[in-house]
Amino acid sequence: MKTKTTQSPTLAARYIANGEIVAFPTETVYGLGANIFNEDAIRKIFEAKGRPADNPLIAHIADLSQLKSVTSEIPPVAEQLIEAFFPGPLTLVLPKHKTVPAIATAGLNTIGVRMPGHPIAQQLLRACGVPLVAPSANLSGRPSPTTWQAVRDDLSGRIACILKGDQTKVGLESTVVDCTGDRPKILRAGGITLEQLRAVVPETELADSEDSSAPKSPGMKYRHYSPRAQVFISNFPQFTMPGGEAGYIGIDPPARPDAFQKVLLCKDIAEYAHSLFQFFRECDDLGIKTIYCQAVSEGGLGLALMDRIRRAAHE
Ligand code: TXA
Ligand code: MG
Repeated sequence: MKTKTTQSPTLAARYIANGEIVAFPTETVYGLGANIFNEDAIRKIFEAKGRPADNPLIAHIADLSQLKSVTSEIPPVAEQLIEAFFPGPLTLVLPKHKTVPAIATAGLNTIGVRMPGHPIAQQLLRACGVPLVAPSANLSGRPSPTTWQAVRDDLSGRIACILKGDQTKVGLESTVVDCTGDRPKILRAGGITLEQLRAVVPETELADSEDSSAPKSPGMKYRHYSPRAQVFISNFPQFTMPGGEAGYIGIDPPARPDAFQKVLLCKDIAEYAHSLFQFFRECDDLGIKTIYCQAVSEGGLGLALMDRIRRAAHE
């Protein structure tokens, strides 16, 4: 299959209408979209990514009027979170509408829903006129793509179309919050922080990985976000020295920056989060074998950032 790259949301929407799958930018990472009501198109997403069939997809909606077509109920806490954070990098897990095919949610009776704020994602969703299910547009197990070139590197020849945009702003995926229980529960840390959520719903909690009664985010059990290089967490940059061909990313400089093949110093945690996945991919392209990532405190976006770094380091 030849993959068309385009800047036109209307052209991209035509591929969706024809039952094809299309990569598109959002404020978090690039997504790989299909018409949520087209089972055959959704199957193509799992095939193109090599994604396990038991990992559910997120529904992307243009506006609140589309919410009712994918969910059967909106609990009061969800209404509060929607009011505060839609559109934005937040996914709410809600009871699924029966017309959404089971393949979209891997057979679950819940569905993750998110309204992206990115203007190109919005234009695409409007042009499609239906919600799109979309995982991140990477091969399963690879770092999520934050540029259209990263999508092309992973999926060229496997998908019909890439809708181009700039490098994504947040650089990490959306926060996934389960709203089907007594209290909102964070299943995956992401672009909206625990502190932001608690400012609106103080009872919001982090899902306890030990708590077997909690519905988990099934995707979190898989190997994730991994560059080919081996990732190490650096707690003390001032003592971090490369062994062999190495890369370093962090806020503070390492012991001997010149001894690394590639160094990226970020001005704060937001810039670090924005750059991490792209840095992983650039190191792989250079054939770098080892990547050191500075550990940061887990407040704010630091929680999601450290989650992704730990997964990349297989901790
Ligand atoms: O920022 C994002 O969320 C990006 C952009 C494209 O929107 N999407 C994304 O999708 O990261 P994906 O498929 O790579 O990750 C979705 C995560 C997985 O961990 C999945 O298991 C979880 O959300 N998830 C989806 N539906 C769920 C449900 N009904 N219940 C629990 N977890 C769910
Ligand atoms: Mg993903």
